Amino acid sequence: MKMATRISRISVSKTMAVMEAALKLREQGIDVVDFGPGEPDFPTPDNVKQAGIRAIQENFTKYTAIGGIKELKKAIVEKHTRDFGSKYDIGECVVNFGGKHALFNVFSAVVDEGDDVIIPTPYWVTFGDIARFVNANPIFVATKESDGFRLTAELLARSLTPKTRVVVVNSPNNPSGAVLDNEEFGHIAKLCRERDIFLLSDECYSHFLYDGRKPFSVASHTDLKSHIIIAGSISKTYAMTGWRIGYVLAVPEIIGGIVKLQSHSTSNPTSISQKAALEALTGPQESVGIMLAEYAKRRKFVLDRLRAIPGVKCAEPGGAFYAYPNISAAFGRGGIKDCVDFSARLLEKVHVAVTPGEAFGTNDHVRMSYATSMAELDKGLKRMHEFMARL
Ligand SMILES: Cc1ncc(COP(=O)(O)O)c(C=O)c1O
Repeated sequence: MKMATRISRISVSKTMAVMEAALKLREQGIDVVDFGPGEPDFPTPDNVKQAGIRAIQENFTKYTAIGGIKELKKAIVEKHTRDFGSKYDIGECVVNFGGKHALFNVFSAVVDEGDDVIIPTPYWVTFGDIARFVNANPIFVATKESDGFRLTAELLARSLTPKTRVVVVNSPNNPSGAVLDNEEFGHIAKLCRERDIFLLSDECYSHFLYDGRKPFSVASHTDLKSHIIIAGSISKTYAMTGWRIGYVLAVPEIIGGIVKLQSHSTSNPTSISQKAALEALTGPQESVGIMLAEYAKRRKFVLDRLRAIPGVKCAEPGGAFYAYPNISAAFGRGGIKDCVDFSARLLEKVHVAVTPGEAFGTNDHVRMSYATSMAELDKGLKRMHEFMARL
């Protein structure tokens, strides 16, 4: 069958392949330790669930404004100002079906066919595929592991092309957990404005930072607003991945373009989820701190245990809930050629699921999510240690 070329330009997320392989083993009754999932293992906070239930009981179950209800947009921009010192009004905000949809809409609204989109490596797998879907060219810029996988303005300046339209920055980063230095982030934003390029900042993990570091948004540079686009999500911050609420903050022209697109595609994000999101943003915030404290414990545990495995190196993740160890010491041993082989063998031999770095643009690493219990982390890391020792 002949399919549209735009759909053949993209592939099913490589992170899914591992999940499927792990699922197959589970179905056979095998005890798989799964370091794959990119979502919190906590339930949605109770006050948020109750707000969703109330929305149903009060029949808030019809179409809403396409770009989201006013109260939610107000809550988003006010919280963004409180947390980060940004300055947006509700005409500069649109609510979407999650952060992924927010990104998809931004690309659709501002990127033309043939434009270049700069994506630092390692990157979240979806960025490149959305760029390809809109027939743009993803330009992958390798950051250095020795620099903790952080993009610098200097590296970006060397990588820009005459056709660059957008630079995508994701800090804290999925998969590496790398967090950009605040000042450097500002330099990157200034460079983008000088070159008349959009800086698309994916803030999905903005509230998951460690060692007492305060959340930061590049949108605090209010003077650079014309060239900054924020893609936000409440999925991870409030353990609400299934509710599907994200947002874009940008100048009104971009927001208008996205609303136009949504008016012909998804229409409004789910009314019930919007009410729940409103409660998440305006209600008690304790749950965020509780989750963060637990992730902080796990992060230390995982780092210590990974670094105790002979040959394994791991850059310190400053945020998010992933570790991105370098496992290249295993290459050439036990027939392992690359990170895909490593991940397949680890799953097959000791039933531990990790995501090969290939999915994120590097070959020497695997991504391990620590959004899972301490007991599972302990079991999985023990197995991984033994696996490496036996190679
Ligand atoms: C970097 C990054 N951005 C955006 C998203 C999108 O999340 P959601 O669509 O659930 O809001 C994810 C999810 O894994 C992510 O890792």
